[in-house]
Amino acid sequence: MTPDAIRARKRTGPPVAALTAYDYPMARLLDEAGVDVLLVGDSLGMVVLGHPDTTHVKMEDIEHHLRAAARARPRALLGADLPYRSYETPVQAVANARRLIAAGAAFVKAEGGAEILPQIKAIRDAGIPFMGHLGMLPQHVLEEGGKYRIKGKDEAGRAKLLADAAALAGADVFAVVLELVAPPVAAEITRNFPFVTIGIGSGPDCDGQILVTHDLVGAFPWFTPRFVQPAIKTAEQVREALKQWKAGLASRQDKTAA
Ligand code: KIV
Repeated sequence: MTPDAIRARKRTGPPVAALTAYDYPMARLLDEAGVDVLLVGDSLGMVVLGHPDTTHVKMEDIEHHLRAAARARPRALLGADLPYRSYETPVQAVANARRLIAAGAAFVKAEGGAEILPQIKAIRDAGIPFMGHLGMLPQHVLEEGGKYRIKGKDEAGRAKLLADAAALAGADVFAVVLELVAPPVAAEITRNFPFVTIGIGSGPDCDGQILVTHDLVGAFPWFTPRFVQPAIKTAEQVREALKQWKAGLASRQDKTAA
């Protein structure tokens, strides 16, 4: 899978299926299931590393998990997030994007629109494919008072999203994640720009969808975003397996000890 092949799905469908993968087994399972895009997202800070939000994630964390996912040698397009404060200047953005490419990424993603355009242009000028991220920007959650709010509900919000989308289109990004964007605005961006839109909590009209895999499979039961209905309840199955194993141990009938 290549960025161009993903971009071409704008016209030809089927919808782009994207999920997060932070390690070898999950990258391999998702790839075997035919998922198109695997993202080593900075959401790993919350669902794997136990931080309260993504602002604690460092370059080293992303590189470590990216190397593990890359060992699955996925057919899917594997990319990674530039974490919080790792792309403050064009020079820093390119240096860190190169580190992620060296660790196995085929593209990098960063949060923001016009305000990070010099960084995005520098990354593109370095020949590195770029995925944008507009709408609710988790790396800014503290500035938002700790709340993950829907964007584009009023005219000013819509206008800002459209201006940011135009800036990203001008920088020739192949795809843009739209996170918690009001569905009519997500549909408008999808219709009007050449990049592929990949929605998360932004309605059904994007060119594709992305989820945090832990949310989809119920592996992080302490918080599930409102827009996700877990397809299975992994945490409950783990709890049940542990209960049975402990009961077997207590009755000295544990077959795994044989
Ligand atoms: O960090 C992440 O996993 C993401 C996706 C959910 C879009 O940015």
